[in-house]
Amino acid sequence: MKSINLGNSGLEASAVALGCMRIAELGASELAQLIDACLEAGIDFFDHADIYGGGRCEERFGEYLHTHPGVRDRILIQSKCGIRPGFFDFSLPHILHSVDQSLTRLQTDHLDVLLLHRPDTLMEPEEVAEAFTHLHQSGKVRHFGVSNQNPSQMALLQKYVPFKLIADQLQFGPAHTPLVDSGLNVNIKSPLGTMYDGGVLEYCRLNEITIQTWSPFLFGFFEGVFLTSERYTELTRTLGRIGERYRLSPGAAAVAWVARHPAKIQTIIGSTKPQRVRENARGADVELTREEWYEIYRSAGNRLP
Ligand SMILES: NC(=O)c1ccc[n+]([C@@H]2O[C@H](COP(=O)([O-])OP(=O)(O)OC[C@H]3O[C@@H](n4cnc5c(N)ncnc54)[C@H](OP(=O)(O)O)[C@@H]3O)[C@@H](O)[C@H]2O)c1
Repeated sequence: MKSINLGNSGLEASAVALGCMRIAELGASELAQLIDACLEAGIDFFDHADIYGGGRCEERFGEYLHTHPGVRDRILIQSKCGIRPGFFDFSLPHILHSVDQSLTRLQTDHLDVLLLHRPDTLMEPEEVAEAFTHLHQSGKVRHFGVSNQNPSQMALLQKYVPFKLIADQLQFGPAHTPLVDSGLNVNIKSPLGTMYDGGVLEYCRLNEITIQTWSPFLFGFFEGVFLTSERYTELTRTLGRIGERYRLSPGAAAVAWVARHPAKIQTIIGSTKPQRVRENARGADVELTREEWYEIYRSAGNRLP
């Protein structure tokens, strides 16, 4: 599996990562099989958040690490904080408290990456900077980033935070393409020309911030899996046809589609099935042609100008 130098920080992580949002209900051996499948497939990066499963996902992962003592040193763990029931909280006490709780649940002494989960409009960037400095100096967190933020929000934070923000986690996949739509339709009065994110794709490329894509197989805001939706039969058929050329399943072809973008986007897949993880991971090492990439984009119902 090829790797990505996250935010040009020197932190090399697998191009496909496992998102751990859905692992709360897996049995211990099911979870062990899932993580083993990741390791065999070359996936060494695991994405968490304090809120996944109400903390249960981190807890389950920590139990696995406890019973597999050699694994922690072979993998990178990322977690997130800042979402609380009914509000967002980037205050210093909350960030510090949340990281301590995550470390306890994960049974580890450090996070390789901490992301701020979703923008808190009441954020004081100086306060976040203080929290990050404390976490870095105490060895609890090695790198920092954000999620669901636009360029101005990142620039505001970066003005105060003394560490380079290395990642922005955003939703992107063949059935969710706002990241590229507006850039393909500049100055055109159409829904696809509407910019929802302030040009975050180009901002991240300019500033060497790695985009990590969440929910690459979903459409809408958690509306469903496009691969099994009637709304996206043409897209799934195209992925199947193009995937066959490389012996990839439609899902793996979707991973190849994300990986083909020169922004070097890290794909965070959330499957709970070892076989699907193995299959999908293979997509990252296949390079689709430009024609194939645009064909997949068009078959999701997108028109080019
Ligand atoms: N930053 C944020 O705001 C944010 C938001 C959401 C998620 N995330 C992160 O992103 C990660 C990935 O999100 P996600 O889990 O929604 O990603 P996803 O990989 O797009 O979706 C996973 C779901 O799709 C199903 N699936 C995959 N391939 C399938 C197929 N061929 N047929 C039927 N079902 C299929 C999986 O089922 P199986 O389990 O049966 O394979 C699973 O339920 C999360 O774990 C989390 O770490 C971040």
